[in-house]
Amino acid sequence: MLLHIPEVLTKVQVQELRRILDAGAWVDGAGSAGPLAAEAKRNVQFSIESSDYPPLSQAIVTALERQPLFVSAALPQHILPPMFNRYAVGNTYGNHVDNAIQMDRRSGTRVRTDVSVTVFLSEPEDYEGGELVVDDTYGSHEVKLPAGDAIVYPSSSLHRVEPVTAGARVASFLWVQSLVSDAWQRSMLFDLDMTLLKLRSQLGNTEEIVTLTGHYHNLIRQWAK
Ligand code: NI
Repeated sequence: MLLHIPEVLTKVQVQELRRILDAGAWVDGAGSAGPLAAEAKRNVQFSIESSDYPPLSQAIVTALERQPLFVSAALPQHILPPMFNRYAVGNTYGNHVDNAIQMDRRSGTRVRTDVSVTVFLSEPEDYEGGELVVDDTYGSHEVKLPAGDAIVYPSSSLHRVEPVTAGARVASFLWVQSLVSDAWQRSMLFDLDMTLLKLRSQLGNTEEIVTLTGHYHNLIRQWAK
């Protein structure tokens, strides 16, 4: 399931983040990829050693946690600190699947990557190319969103970033360990939650809706690990 979440950040928030990011230190992006993915990766990343990095990273987490759609779709158990990347002309990231395990440098704990998130920090008209292309069972999906919008997709999916041919593409990206590791189970829970939300707004809290809501929570109890 690919989920577009609009306006995770306001345009003013995007401008403020970009002001700090654009003036900061960037390093070769290959460092954060596994050995196979590193071969396909041509971009730069905002230095995680920079004193500007922790508050910028936290701003993305705070904004995402305020989004009910994100919480329902990702069912986050552990959110790895968001990083920032920049694709200038000629930069690209070929087809790859993200590493299954990432180290959370703050705590030294290993985190399973279930859900990948990209928050766009450049407007689509600011660059050519640079589409995020995600393959799933229904085919290939090209994603290029307004600055401040996010896309959420399973970390298990094959994906790439097309070469940028003009301008520059700046984005934040992060991984989430979900309470529910299976992408199909997560997508069923998300559908159920959204459908219940609609039914509740149409009919109020009927006895049937309360029962189904109970099943939603009991399914999470069954599947969370
Ligand atoms: Ni990736």
